[in-house]
Amino acid sequence: MKYVTLNNGVKMPILGFGVFQIDDMKECEEAVYNALKAGYRLIDTAASYGNEEAVGRAIKRSGIPREEIFVTTKLWVSDANYEKAKLAFETSLKKLDLEYIDLYLIHQPFNDVYGAWRAMTELYKEGKIKAIGVSNFLVHHLEELMSDCEIKPMVDQIEFHPGHNQKETVEFCKKHGIVVEAWSPLGRGVILENEFLAGIAQKYNKTIAQICLRWIIQQEVVALPKSVTPERIKSNFEVFNFELSEEDMDKITNMGPAGYTGSDPNLGRY
Ligand code: A2P
Repeated sequence: MKYVTLNNGVKMPILGFGVFQIDDMKECEEAVYNALKAGYRLIDTAASYGNEEAVGRAIKRSGIPREEIFVTTKLWVSDANYEKAKLAFETSLKKLDLEYIDLYLIHQPFNDVYGAWRAMTELYKEGKIKAIGVSNFLVHHLEELMSDCEIKPMVDQIEFHPGHNQKETVEFCKKHGIVVEAWSPLGRGVILENEFLAGIAQKYNKTIAQICLRWIIQQEVVALPKSVTPERIKSNFEVFNFELSEEDMDKITNMGPAGYTGSDPNLGRY
């Protein structure tokens, strides 16, 4: 496993396992358990996914020491203010049945993000959270938050996959020492039908999913693929034994829209 280092020195795996839309608790527990057995050491959930308990159960069941697993969860919009953020954090902690969270993110740039950030900063200083960040923040959201915060975000988790480069946000984050995480790194599975990517996959004798994930981690962006299928969970993890040439990296970067983009159009207007 390769790691990235956050701006506070915390190390985070460059490849994690996302559980968005795994609504069935048994299925979620099984998927996280299988992911941990396959070698994943970063699990990404959120209060709004409604599956934190299942994630907590899978972690316990795996028998892997807590300190070897990096757990991320997120504060939902309706709880994004100073008082509610503190309560929501405790609820997440209880549901996950953990003593601390590795990374806590403001899920979306809505509601009182300044108040929420102050609460998260305090929890961070108390050691209950090892790193704090945001999700779905574009450049202007980051600039606004950073204009009035004691500690700057360590992470921004955004939709990012071939055909959806988010160039401006990624460049801003790199310049300011904020690690970018990619949600829907496989474009929810839709871009896995793409013919251009199929050609690259054939050249490297890899799956299209592996090409997408490799393209992401080779840019030092953290990828968080989701799957409930054991073979896919395993094969999505096998991306450390090959490298894309610079030329192919550029070709994928410049391939143009590849189908799915789930980005909320309201984000830009906030
Ligand atoms: P499933 O969960 O049924 O295995 P993303 O992470 O971009 O949101 O994409 C998740 C979607 O991609 C899910 O529908 C998942 O299906 C599918 N998926 C994940 N890995 C693979 C893979 N290696 N090949 C094909 N589809 C995949």
